[in-house]
Order: sequence, then structure tokens, then C-alpha cells
Amino acid sequence: MADLELRRDFPLLQRKMNGKPLVYLDNGATTQKPESVVQAVCKYYGGCNANPHRGAYELSVQATGIYETARARTQRFIHAAKPEEVIFTKNATEALNLVAYSYGLTFVQPGDEIVITVAEHHSNLVPWQMVASRKQAVLKYIYLNGDGTLSEEDIETKITEKTKIVAVTQVSNVLGLVNDVRRIAHKAHSVGAVCVVDGSQSAAHMAVDVQELGADFFAFSGHKLLSPMGIGVLYGKEELLDKMPPFLMGGDMIEYVEEQETTFAELPSKFEAGTQNVGGAAGLIAAIEYLEHFTFERVEQVERELLDYALPQLRELPFIELYGCDAVKARKTGIITFNVKDVHPHDVSTILDAQGVAIRAGHHCAQPLMRYLGQNATCRASFYLYNTKDDIDRWIAALKEVRKVMRL
Ligand code: ALA
Repeated sequence: MADLELRRDFPLLQRKMNGKPLVYLDNGATTQKPESVVQAVCKYYGGCNANPHRGAYELSVQATGIYETARARTQRFIHAAKPEEVIFTKNATEALNLVAYSYGLTFVQPGDEIVITVAEHHSNLVPWQMVASRKQAVLKYIYLNGDGTLSEEDIETKITEKTKIVAVTQVSNVLGLVNDVRRIAHKAHSVGAVCVVDGSQSAAHMAVDVQELGADFFAFSGHKLLSPMGIGVLYGKEELLDKMPPFLMGGDMIEYVEEQETTFAELPSKFEAGTQNVGGAAGLIAAIEYLEHFTFERVEQVERELLDYALPQLRELPFIELYGCDAVKARKTGIITFNVKDVHPHDVSTILDAQGVAIRAGHHCAQPLMRYLGQNATCRASFYLYNTKDDIDRWIAALKEVRKVMRL
């Protein structure tokens, strides 16, 4: 369980909300930042800010140094083979769009198939609809078993010789269930397809080894991993990135520019047009350091203990409906998605907010999954390393009031 001393590392967690100490349970949307990350960003802007890769003066060289250090740290963090395989983007959405626009539009041909799961966030779903529609390809879905896990049968039968891309989330942002990406990547490779992994909900919650997973591409956002917003990562295998055209055109991604044509820079610059986010990179270094010091073993332990503490109590409440909480064999991160009978999730969220409890309510950018679950919307509480049993107590106490407030 997270201790109170650790919470002191996070300035925002000391805040009150609506007159009550904040209980922050929306970590699937974004995580709070430790003081070391805030300080790293301030230190960069206060002492080292310059445009990287462009200036031949010391300040610019230092900014470049921070940026490239972040790349090397990220490479080690996800166990990529080379720093050039780490492309910085704005967030996971941009990273996934990069793969869709660059790899998808170049290598998918009419009649080819793209396979995704029905549990994808829109950022790993809408770009593939776009590729399928523009290239007259077929978009196929892997559906779920009753407990929310991916259908084994669909994995076996939907990925075929016609499949060119399999795109799958490692952890569903709604159900919190961990998909066996290694197995899916193996199946994709057996038919000559590439495997694109959305790591948005996994990279901050478990140790990731992209080579061990067999991911050809792996995307995640810094802000869900203690870092500032505005920096994200696309990992891609060098041989794939090398043959892909640039996604965005502009400064720093070129080698030579003539009036009518351009040759492009080598990796990773080819995919990093425009001024890079060095402040974000400085924050990302500090975030990775914080997490590595804390260890993923402890992250998983905290989340498991919170699930084990919360779920039996929720199951006792007859007015709570849970989603994705019954899979006995599947690994689950600290995400609990639920509804309060006869109360709209937005009302639930507003009532909890009055008690200082922040959760997410809505379709969670996963409308096909909502439809599949037969819901328009749900509530979601998502935990992270700084959450405590006291947070769970406050959340559940507030939940018990919801139906009374609604006069049900
Ligand atoms: N993708 C984020 C979430 O699941 C915003 O809440």
C-alpha cells in the first residue's frame, strides 16, 4: 500500500477539492507529477532553454543533450535495441497516427486486412478505420469473452494470411485487463503481419520489454507515466521505421531541400519535424527515474492490494454493477469500471466530486466497447502508486451516498 510519506512527493495530492482532501482516482486519464518532475521542467526552462539540434552555441548543445538523454533513458526503460528506435511524439495518439498514416497508408493494399480488438481506445481504432477506408482494406475485430478477456478463438481465426496489421492495446483503458500481447504478436508474425501495441495504460504500470513482447511498434504517453503532458513515445523496429515515409514535414527532419524535392534525415529525426519538446523530455527523464527507483514490483503490488481491498466491498453493494472484474485468470491493473444502478455516470461523478473524489465518467473514448458491454457510459476509478486504503474508503463511502442524493 502506498505510504503517506510517498504522497508528500506529489504537491497536487496535498490539495483540497470542494473543501475535502483530494482523492484522485483518475490515473487512467493522467497521473499526478512528483516534485522531482516539476523541478526538472522548471530547471530546464529556468536554466537551459534553447532550441535543440539547431544552435552551435552552448545552451542549444545542452538542450540537445537533455533531449537525447531522454531518448537513451526511454530506450533502456522499454528495452528497445537502439535509441534511434525511440521517436518522440506529442502523445500516444500522435504515435499511433504516425504508424497508421506512414506505415498503414504505404503498406496496406486493397483487400488486405487489419485486425484490432473491440476494446481499443479510439486512438487505436479510428486511425485504422481511416487506413481501411482509404486503402479499401477490411477492418476486422477480435471480440471478448463474457469476462472481458480477448476471445482466443477470434485471435486464432481473425488473424489470417490476408492480415497486414494487428493493432492491440496491452491494457484496456476501460477494463484494466492485461492482454497477452506476446501471443498476439507471435500470431501476427506467423502470417507476416506487424503488431502495433498501444501501451498507454501499461507502460506506467508494468515493466515493458518491447523486444520480449515482439512488438513492432509500441506507443505510450508521458503524462500517464508521471511526466508532463505533451511528450509521447513511439517505439518502432529500425527496419520498419527505415522504410516508412515521414509523417510530418518541416524543420530538422530533412537532409537536403531543393526547390522541388527533399531528402530526409536519418532516424529518429525523420519523424520529429519541428521544435522538439525538451521541457517534456526533461520531465520524462525525472519520471522514469522516479518509477525505476519505486520499482514496478511495488507499483503492481500497490494496485493489486487496492483491487483486493476495494472489489469485495463493491461486490457487497447491491446497486453497483462491475465490468471486467470477474476474470479469474487474467492479470488486471488498478482499473475498476462500474455503474450505480439507475444513476447516470455523470451524476455519479458529480456527486463524488462534491466529496473530493475524482473519477472518470463517460464512454472513455471507447464507444465500440461501450456498445459491446451494452452501456452508453460507465464510471471508472483508476489507481496508481500513491493511492491508499483511505482513498478507497472515501470513494466507497461517497458511493454509498449517491442513490440517496438522487432520492432513489
Ligand atoms: N485515454 C485516457 C483515458 O482513458 C484519457 O481516460
